[in-house]
Amino acid sequence: MTENKGFSSNFGAIMAAVGSAVGLGNIWRFPYICGKYGGGAFLIVYLCFVFCIGMVLMMTEFVIGRRSQHTPVAAYPILRPDKKGWRYVGIFGMVTCFLILSLYLVISGWTLNYVVDAASGTLAQLDSSGLELHFKAFSESAVRPIVFLAVFALLTVAVILGGVQKGVEKVSKLMMPILVVLLVVLCVRSVTMPGASAGLDYLFKPDFSKLTGQGVLAALGQALFSLSVGMGVMIVYGSYIPRNDNLLKTSIWITVCDTLIALCAGVAIFPAVFSCGLEPTGGPGLVFKVLPTVFNSMNPSSGFMVGTVFSVIFFVLLSMAALTSAISLLEALVAWGSEYPNRKRSVSAIVLALCVVVLGGLCSMSVGGLSGVKVAGLGLFDLVDKLTAVYLPPLCALLTVAFIGWVMPAADIKDELSNHGTLKVGYFKAFYFLARYVAPLALLLVLVTGIVNG
Ligand code: PFF
Repeated sequence: MTENKGFSSNFGAIMAAVGSAVGLGNIWRFPYICGKYGGGAFLIVYLCFVFCIGMVLMMTEFVIGRRSQHTPVAAYPILRPDKKGWRYVGIFGMVTCFLILSLYLVISGWTLNYVVDAASGTLAQLDSSGLELHFKAFSESAVRPIVFLAVFALLTVAVILGGVQKGVEKVSKLMMPILVVLLVVLCVRSVTMPGASAGLDYLFKPDFSKLTGQGVLAALGQALFSLSVGMGVMIVYGSYIPRNDNLLKTSIWITVCDTLIALCAGVAIFPAVFSCGLEPTGGPGLVFKVLPTVFNSMNPSSGFMVGTVFSVIFFVLLSMAALTSAISLLEALVAWGSEYPNRKRSVSAIVLALCVVVLGGLCSMSVGGLSGVKVAGLGLFDLVDKLTAVYLPPLCALLTVAFIGWVMPAADIKDELSNHGTLKVGYFKAFYFLARYVAPLALLLVLVTGIVNG
């Protein structure tokens, strides 16, 4: 497909896919969605979706990608040449990727701005209400968020042009472990703050009376978003996975790492939220308001500003985690472009990034200056967020899993999962049952009830 095709090793493949999965979805989105929909009860539903549907979808996408060696648009017709109409499911996924990327780059830009604010000492001077005002003023301003969005888009394009192995894989291998260490440090700090236990209760003690139909739908959307499944990115990454890789093991690794990191983010944030007397339902600004408070609490009244140093490192790493996810979204779109004759990878990357910056810029402005402009009663930011995190991925996921369960020959799926008969796949019947019945039914049910209740 391209001169950069393929990850260099199984470890590299896992790290790149973990890089795609772990990002703002775990650290920025999971805590605020969990807070919004009731904490512990949401968490349980989320975990069920992650392991029963998300992981099955990940294997499904890997099978489609590795077997066809193409992006979703070409993959479906390759696997079932008599059913060409399935390419539209691939296109649907790519459009979803485009929308996600637009919004993703806005938040990534916020993260990058917070690196600068942390390094300049601005955040260290603010108390929790000051941080709240600071976030509001920044996110609603007209120019600054768009400048950082554009810088982030440039970084993403630069890594894409660097290639799959030298760009995507290298960045992921280095940054992911450091991010984990820092998150653990933050967790320890957060749970030792005064009054922290209320936050742990909120996260881990389920109160099912708080759970709503919308909450269940949001949990499904979050599970798919967090694992980067349901829009075809993992089909593209699947086409890069080495032939001898065990797709079950790879999927388990990615799912477990992604979930642990989301849980760590919850443990780092909720105790601090309660300790600082903030609202767990604080919305998209939660991480940006709460974590600097935790960092500031580490700064002694005089001397070395350890919290400030941590704060800079944290926002740099969060930007890196966002970068590896943004790369996977752009890579999927660029790989699709490269399937057409005479389309240069570099040109596709630049043109797509420009389009994404325009839509992202409009989303960003809809938080501030354009907040009066509503579509279906929502500002553009909220509309794209709702579409990409709640409705489109479950629908696309439903079609993808239906393809595996009902359209692709079972023998081909088994052949791919067993690496052409060289691996034992005792789990195949269970996987096929989940993909044929459980996942499509659950996806359908949750989508329909969510839409009806919404
Ligand atoms: N999984 C990423 C995160 O949690 O931040 C976001 C994402 C990446 C979603 C790639 C979808 C995707 F295709």
